[in-house]
Amino acid sequence: MEVSEALRSRRSTRAFEPDGLLLGREVLEDLIFEATRAPSEFNLQPWRFLVVRDRERKQALYDCCFKQEKIRQASALIVVCGDTRGWERADKAAEELIETGYFDPGPAAQPGQQSIQSAQNDARALAERIKNTYLRDERARIAMAYRNPALVAMNLMLVATERGIASCPIAGFSEPQLRRAFEIPDRFVPVVIIALGMPSLAMGRQPVKPRRPLFEVVYHEDMASW
Ligand SMILES: Cc1cc2nc3c(=O)[nH]c(=O)nc-3n(C[C@H](O)[C@H](O)[C@H](O)COP(=O)(O)O)c2cc1C
Repeated sequence: MEVSEALRSRRSTRAFEPDGLLLGREVLEDLIFEATRAPSEFNLQPWRFLVVRDRERKQALYDCCFKQEKIRQASALIVVCGDTRGWERADKAAEELIETGYFDPGPAAQPGQQSIQSAQNDARALAERIKNTYLRDERARIAMAYRNPALVAMNLMLVATERGIASCPIAGFSEPQLRRAFEIPDRFVPVVIIALGMPSLAMGRQPVKPRRPLFEVVYHEDMASW
C-alpha cells in the first residue's frame, strides 16, 4: 500500500467490532517496531508504549477515558507516552552513533590502525549540545515529550492501516486517573491512546471527515497576513 493510500483510507474508527481481531503481542510489537522508524529530536526516541489487551485492564482504561465505549470494544490499545527525561540519555545516544559507524572515524593515527578519536570528539560534542538544549529549559523538555510521541503515534496508525487494522487516536482521558490506574511514573506523559481493532460491522464504511481548505491554513514565508 502506498503511503498516500494509507493516508486517505485511515479513519478514526467510531466503533469497533468487540474483539473482532486477535491482536497478539507479536503483531502489536511489530507495529510498534515499524512506528519507531519515526524521526526524533537528536534521535533520543523519548517514547514509551503501554500495551493494553487484557479485558479487566481495558475496563480500567475505559473508566479513565470518560467511558468511551470504543475502549472496551477495541482489540488492543496502546498508550503512547513521552519521556520528559529523554535527554538524559545524551551520552548513550551519542555513543550508539559511534557504535553504528555514523560518525566518521577520521584518518588512522598509524597505517593499519583505525582512529576513533574524531568520532569520539563528534559524539562528545553532540552529547554536550543535547544537554545544553534541555538541561535548563523545562519548556524544551515538555515539548520533547509531546512532539516526538505524536510523530510515532501517526506512524503507528499508518502502519496499522497498511495491515488492515483500524485505529482511533484518543486524547479524551483523565490524566491523573490514567497515571494512577496504570502506575505511570511522573517522568512520562501519556500523550495519546491508539485504539486498534476491526471496525464495527454494523457501522458500515465511515465517510471521510472534511478538511479545511489550504488557503485557511497555509502561509508562505511569514504569517503577517494572519
Ligand atoms: C490528539 C487527538 C485526540 C483525539 N481524541 C479522540 C477521542 O478522545 N475520542 C474520539 O472518539 N476521537 C478522538 N480523536 C479523533 C478525532 O475526532 C478525528 O481524528 C477527527 O475527527 C478527524 O477524523 P479522521 O481521523 O477520521 O479523519 C482524536 C484525534 C486526535 C488527533
